[in-house]
Amino acid sequence: MPKSVAIVTGAAGDIGRAIAARLGDGHDIVLLADINGEAAKKTALDLGGTERFLAISCDVTDAASVAAMAEAAASVGTVRTLVNNAGAARAVSLHDTTHDIWRMDNALNLEAAFLCFRAVEEMLKESRGSVVNIASVNGMNVFGHPAYSAAKAGLLHLTRLIAVEYGKFGIRANAVAPATVRTQAWEARAAANAQVFEEAKRWYPLQRIVEPKDVAEAVHFLASPAAGAISGICLPVDCGLTAGQAEVARTFSQSIHY
Ligand SMILES: NC(=O)c1ccc[n+]([C@@H]2O[C@H](COP(=O)([O-])OP(=O)(O)OC[C@H]3O[C@@H](n4cnc5c(N)ncnc54)[C@H](O)[C@@H]3O)[C@@H](O)[C@H]2O)c1
Repeated sequence: MPKSVAIVTGAAGDIGRAIAARLGDGHDIVLLADINGEAAKKTALDLGGTERFLAISCDVTDAASVAAMAEAAASVGTVRTLVNNAGAARAVSLHDTTHDIWRMDNALNLEAAFLCFRAVEEMLKESRGSVVNIASVNGMNVFGHPAYSAAKAGLLHLTRLIAVEYGKFGIRANAVAPATVRTQAWEARAAANAQVFEEAKRWYPLQRIVEPKDVAEAVHFLASPAAGAISGICLPVDCGLTAGQAEVARTFSQSIHY
């Protein structure tokens, strides 16, 4: 029986690292793919070494690089789980969005997931495996970062496209939509406003922001046999954000109970 492989893209980032660590439970090998190969190598070592956690340098926006990643996965086993986690946002408003930014954000946050899926789909068929796409609450509502958000909304639809067309092969596809997670991606905003995370909490029903491990738990569940009948969904991991805001409910209802 071939070894089961989980691929996590963007695995050198904080969320990717937490997902890779969690998928170590349930997979023989976790392939940490990141454009920053050195950082991926360090992450793999931190997670317990190169036997079970393998690092590979991969630009997920580049088809040749993605093909090499798929080959590397095939050389150690069969892909059972693909987590499309690499992602980033480059402009905060439409006013600040250039054509290049629009294209780059779509390439990284949407097209890359398509490329990675197509590169490993035969292995996913063999393993009757699953895809977990890391989307964002930005793909569900407007919270800034337009090009990124449009791409994440597209990623939610790609999730459904895979679920419907590939369900007959036993392949499941689901998305996780995190809200604010304190990661390297927030560095510039945290540098501009040291209170940004405190200010963010006010909008969350649970009055806290999301931790990387919260995202990792959701991914682990969706990739596991426990979620064997779940396909085509988006699971928000958002401390209640997309359910509504207590402040808005208080104003609209004039009730002190919100
Ligand atoms: N941090 C948040 O608040 C938040 C909220 C919602 C969704 N997300 C999503 O979670 C995912 C992880 O975000 P994060 O906050 O951990 O980001 P991060 O910036 O900490 O990590 C992203 C990783 O992706 C890698 N990467 C960038 N471009 C790449 C490419 N072309 N090929 C391969 N790897 C590449 C980077 O080197 C980095 O290691 C992203 O898809 C992001 O959109 C994050």
